[in-house]
Amino acid sequence: MTEQIRIIEAKDHVGEVVRIGAWLTDKRSSGKIAFLQLRDGSAFFQGVVLKNEVAEAVFQTAKDMKQETSMWLTGEIHEDSRSHFGYEMEVQDIEVIGSSEDYPITPKEHGIEFLLDHRHLWLRSKRQFAIQQIRNEMIRATYEFFNNEGFIKMDPPILTGSAPEGTTELFETEYFDKPAFLSQSGQLYAEAGAMAYGKVFTFGPVFRAEKSKTRRHLTEFWMIEPEMAFMHQAQSLEIQERYIAFLVQSVIDNCAYQLKLIDRDIETLKQYTKLPFPRIRYDEAIEMLQKAGFDVKWGDDFGSPEETYLSDQFEQPVFVLNYPKAIKPFYMLPEEGRDDTYVCADLLAPEGYGEIIGGSEREVDYDKLKAAIEAKGLDLAEYEWYLDLRKYGSVPHAGFGLGFERAITWICHLDHLREAIPFPRMINRLKP
Ligand code: 4AD
Ligand code: MG
Repeated sequence: MTEQIRIIEAKDHVGEVVRIGAWLTDKRSSGKIAFLQLRDGSAFFQGVVLKNEVAEAVFQTAKDMKQETSMWLTGEIHEDSRSHFGYEMEVQDIEVIGSSEDYPITPKEHGIEFLLDHRHLWLRSKRQFAIQQIRNEMIRATYEFFNNEGFIKMDPPILTGSAPEGTTELFETEYFDKPAFLSQSGQLYAEAGAMAYGKVFTFGPVFRAEKSKTRRHLTEFWMIEPEMAFMHQAQSLEIQERYIAFLVQSVIDNCAYQLKLIDRDIETLKQYTKLPFPRIRYDEAIEMLQKAGFDVKWGDDFGSPEETYLSDQFEQPVFVLNYPKAIKPFYMLPEEGRDDTYVCADLLAPEGYGEIIGGSEREVDYDKLKAAIEAKGLDLAEYEWYLDLRKYGSVPHAGFGLGFERAITWICHLDHLREAIPFPRMINRLKP
């Protein structure tokens, strides 16, 4: 029996005759030879069919089949120094499994809306393959990092009654006879987890009814939210920078082929593994922006031009510390000696990718937290359980949230978040 392998395993089978299940992505043929561009989900490579070496019917099949035809191929694996994959198959036999006619995504250029309408097929293309594999590596690396650091993963609910990040961006749904919201953030639950297990992280989908149509916003995205008991903000910042450097290093180490497919420069990425990352205060950031001619004043939130300018001043990601209270959520710890700032930080990614992490030390005092919830006009009844965490052995704690698609978009150097997630959800898109 011929051994069945995946394309990615070709390097271990040079000189052997093997069987591969694959789809045709493109094809070139002349009178004597056909070059089949093949993919099987593990990698892309070429099958060469020589007219004089195969049965006539096999050569005819190779010449006739169309893009995305699926097939079993049998043939011998050779090294192929001209391709960046490095191996190819000299095909001996082809057995078509499923035919394919008029595949909508041809090798020519297509508009973005057309591609998004065909996302279920677009995922098959080389670039999308590479991005999703890098996403997968970042998922793997996230679990490895937090497991090594002694965190446990905790899964917060998605149907909730609370609005940690503000009430304007909630998706409401019916929960029997009551309204409920799709979770904006797992943080409040992660805080309960930290008080139970010390160090926890969440990793799941969150939802924001963002009306903004920008390349940085999805309505459904994935967030990693670590939360640590007995830790202050400075320690949290150290975990954040080590985590980001670990993600980047893991992609460099394990995704060289994928990075090549999307033309991402590895030397640039290496810059982002150097620690520590610079830290500036919000106050300084405002001064830097004003000096550069931006029309901003103390108290303003940053838009993407401001974030891009700030991050362009540094070669690594940069932490902006201690934002004004008015533009941040209620649960943060006020800065000592100041009545207008919180102990918090956003991490801005280089190359114009903006905020990828938001985090803070948390308010630990029962009365102050209660007052902060009331000041935001939130329904106290929904936060009683959260206030309990300050009633029974409250301790200093800090945490942060990494926007997973923002991090992928930056590491892969994409134009828009929509390519970082298999099926993007945006203001005008719920299909496919
Ligand atoms: O800054 P945010 O709103 O912080 C929180 O949700 C906190 N509860 C985190 C914590 O301390 N545990 O969101 C965190 C990150 C942002 O830095 C950004 O990267 C990403 O989530 N993000 C979005 N990503 C895609 N689409 C959107 N609409 C996003 N909104 C925020
Ligand atoms: Mg934020």
